[in-house]
Amino acid sequence: MSTGGEAVDRDTMAATKASYDRCCITPRFFEDFYSTFLARCPQARAMFARTDFERQHKLLRHAFGLLLNFPKQPPREPTILARSPSGTVGGTSAWIPRSMRHSSTP
Ligand code: HEM
Repeated sequence: MSTGGEAVDRDTMAATKASYDRCCITPRFFEDFYSTFLARCPQARAMFARTDFERQHKLLRHAFGLLLNFPKQPPREPTILARSPSGTVGGTSAWIPRSMRHSSTP
């Protein structure tokens, strides 16, 4: 198992994905994730005051799935995780399906 640093070995990735798969099939996992997060980090509550959590759960599930599927990308090479339609690096909009974005997201 890896203990941190740049390289994450195959076994660690497999264990992480298997763990995340178990989370995803657990009823109420994402509800529990946000209630635990907001209980432990009350400063973040205001940020989510107008959030549609049903939609947010789907987006977070999708985002974690992408993160776990692209662990080995070299940091300097733009990937689906970093690209945005305008060509700038670092936007989230490219990796969120259009149907799941905020209407204000280009
Ligand atoms: C690995 C960590 C994280 C991932 C993968 C993640 C992922 C996401 C995704 C996919 C969205 C939806 C974007 C959209 O609507 O287009 C989102 C929204 C958001 N995230 Fe995160 N996030 C992370 C960490 C955090 C943290 C630590 C905070 C706060 C301290 C945070 C605050 C927010 C807020 C306020 C929104 C907007 C919610 C809304 O639309 O009402 N996120 N995040």
